[in-house]
Amino acid sequence: MISSSSQSPAAGSSLRALMPALANKTYFNYGGQGPLPTPSLEAIVACWREIQQLGPFSEAVWPLVTRTTSQLRLRLAEIFGAGPHRIAFTENVTSGCVLPLWGLPWRPGDEILLADAEHPGVVAACHELARREHLSLATFSVTRLRGDAAATDAAVLAALERALGNRTRLVVLSHLLWNTGQVMPIAAVAARLREHPAHPWLLVDAAQSLGSLPLEGAARAADIYAGTGHKWCCGPEGLGAVLLSERTLAEARPTLIGWRSLADESISESRFHGDARRFEVATSCTPLFAGLDRSLALLAAEGAAEERLTRIKHSSGRLWHGLQQLPGVRTLLEVPPPAGLVSFTLASLEPALVVKRLGERGIWLRKLEDPLCLRACTHVTTTDEEVDRLLAALAELIAAG
Ligand SMILES: Cc1ncc(COP(=O)(O)O)c(C=O)c1O
Repeated sequence: MISSSSQSPAAGSSLRALMPALANKTYFNYGGQGPLPTPSLEAIVACWREIQQLGPFSEAVWPLVTRTTSQLRLRLAEIFGAGPHRIAFTENVTSGCVLPLWGLPWRPGDEILLADAEHPGVVAACHELARREHLSLATFSVTRLRGDAAATDAAVLAALERALGNRTRLVVLSHLLWNTGQVMPIAAVAARLREHPAHPWLLVDAAQSLGSLPLEGAARAADIYAGTGHKWCCGPEGLGAVLLSERTLAEARPTLIGWRSLADESISESRFHGDARRFEVATSCTPLFAGLDRSLALLAAEGAAEERLTRIKHSSGRLWHGLQQLPGVRTLLEVPPPAGLVSFTLASLEPALVVKRLGERGIWLRKLEDPLCLRACTHVTTTDEEVDRLLAALAELIAAG
């Protein structure tokens, strides 16, 4: 479809061959859910079997449970670049955002400052929190930023500067925006907030960044950095993790409380864990931990996070360039994407109809409501052929009207 002398980096992806979901379709919905590699599914089943052999509820099973959860905690600590004591396991991104958020020491009149690109679930939780705790809400605009990284970073910091007030107590900003696909300068935002007299907390939705971006200083700089295993990490659904800052650990109270929040679950008056486990609740599915651990190991085997991002950008860039050549198509971004999210509009066709027509051909992307557009995601497993297939199918749909 487009001329490119570069060879497909995904040609060398051994991960792709391990994903049955990719064998029978052309997949661009990694930002919704990543395909599960067969070894991860096998790790889940093997762990489940072992739990049944040893227990399920027995003295013999607890070392397996502890070993499995600790191994994943250590692997995530390395990815986040922070101590394992700062990680709490959750069920998904939203609970990782909301559980610590509700435990912060709010005072009536405090302000929550939300970026205008945040996910509806997190926004709704902030609205309800504001109602209950008599807080105010404000927004700052990042969705309109469509240029290169330097211009975007500067504009985010300028918009933040204009929006910050004396009462600002929390800023909510995703690391990688799920709609436009822009990367936010999280470490720089955190540095700016440290200079504010009230040092507002920084909540970062990592739904699209964990597993797709090098997290560098970003995860470490945030107070709440909440991700999930089931999107770019290609793990099973139902398991996420949140990284909390030392001050969040010191200041926030547990919210949804259960035996896993307690330092000693055999004593009902026991104190909460001093570490991030105070935000964990109760029974969860240990085999999922084994599955996510395997998926993260398989991703790591594809290369370091920087190398993987280069490959992701090769495919998203190929798609972005190809879209420029299609009549009536506009990419949301004016420059090739900084990560794997490519959002675009078609002048002549309803997004829902395009999703349906492409789905009939086994090509899967999604529609977004705000701004109304289509979004295709590329991962390390994406091939040039897949990108070209999508571009060719779009060209046909456009030509057919
Ligand atoms: C930016 C963002 N935040 C939150 C979510 C919700 O994720 P979860 O269902 O894991 O809570 C999504 C899902 O698409 C998302 O893209």
